[in-house]
Amino acid sequence: MAIRISIANQKGGCGKTSTAINLADALRRMNYKVLFLDCDAQANATKLLQMQPEANPGVTELILNPDIKLDDCLTATKLPNVSLIRGNIRLASVENRLREPSLYPIPIGVLKGKVRKETDFDIILFDTPPSLSLITMNALAASDYVIVPMESGSGFSFDGLDDLLNIIATVRNSVQPDLAILGVLLTKHDSRRNVCQAVFQMVQDRFKNDCLSTTISMSTAAQKAELQRDTVLQYDRKCSASRDYIALAVEVVTRLKNPLPTARVKPEVAKVIAEVLTDAPPVAVSA
Ligand SMILES: Nc1ncnc2c1ncn2[C@@H]1O[C@H](COP(=O)(O)OP(=O)(O)OP(=O)(O)O)[C@@H](O)[C@H]1O
Ligand SMILES: [Mg+2]
Repeated sequence: MAIRISIANQKGGCGKTSTAINLADALRRMNYKVLFLDCDAQANATKLLQMQPEANPGVTELILNPDIKLDDCLTATKLPNVSLIRGNIRLASVENRLREPSLYPIPIGVLKGKVRKETDFDIILFDTPPSLSLITMNALAASDYVIVPMESGSGFSFDGLDDLLNIIATVRNSVQPDLAILGVLLTKHDSRRNVCQAVFQMVQDRFKNDCLSTTISMSTAAQKAELQRDTVLQYDRKCSASRDYIALAVEVVTRLKNPLPTARVKPEVAKVIAEVLTDAPPVAVSA
């Protein structure tokens, strides 16, 4: 049984893709089997994760072709234990097709029908585009949880948040009553800066328990990792951002209403925390 989580916020550049790929890397280091759906036409995550250029169908085909199943789209990635369903530029055309009522009577429920909980994966992550589009709504409708990344150093971070919360409510009231906010995640956080402190306080005041206690530090390693198409954890597993992503994975796992199998979680969580947060040898990764 998989737990399905969308990473969503229509604000561009707030850290959705960075959160999604590094959370995937942190979770697979905790021995979870992860599936990553890249629902963004920019396909940044696909470019970072895939081992070779496109060969099999991606999210576009999964949505548009009724004969294509999830298993037809699975692609291995550079990260052991992480499978990918690719995004590509063709996702830009999905929006118009979904608006044809004769073909898609419930246009926001197409992915939900294909990405079932009953799989061999433990966690399914959806990276979403910077828009409140039908694709984003499809990802939300196929999810049990949503993580909302917010850039902590920007006074514009709250703009559009009500629209996002309205969309989440619409999805919940129409096709996915189980959709819950796992948490708001502050990204590019620098606790020494007044503006970051102020935004963090505002987020805590507004979201209370739905504000994740983990924050992701502003990090040059994150930018350098992206430049060489690596996750931060691959680039430098001891840097501050790597520690943050491990802490995020641990917080995500502990916040789930139906916890993942404890036989797999407890020793691995303990091991990962011990190894990543100290100077111990690299974390062992299962094949
Ligand atoms: N912790 C961090 N520290 C410094 N830079 C970061 C951090 N996280 C992300 N970035 C940078 O911010 C930029 C935007 O990040 P990212 O692509 O993850 O955002 P996004 O929300 O997915 O963007 P889009 O809306 O275009 O899909 C990237 O250049 C990335 O390297
Ligand atoms: Mg992105």
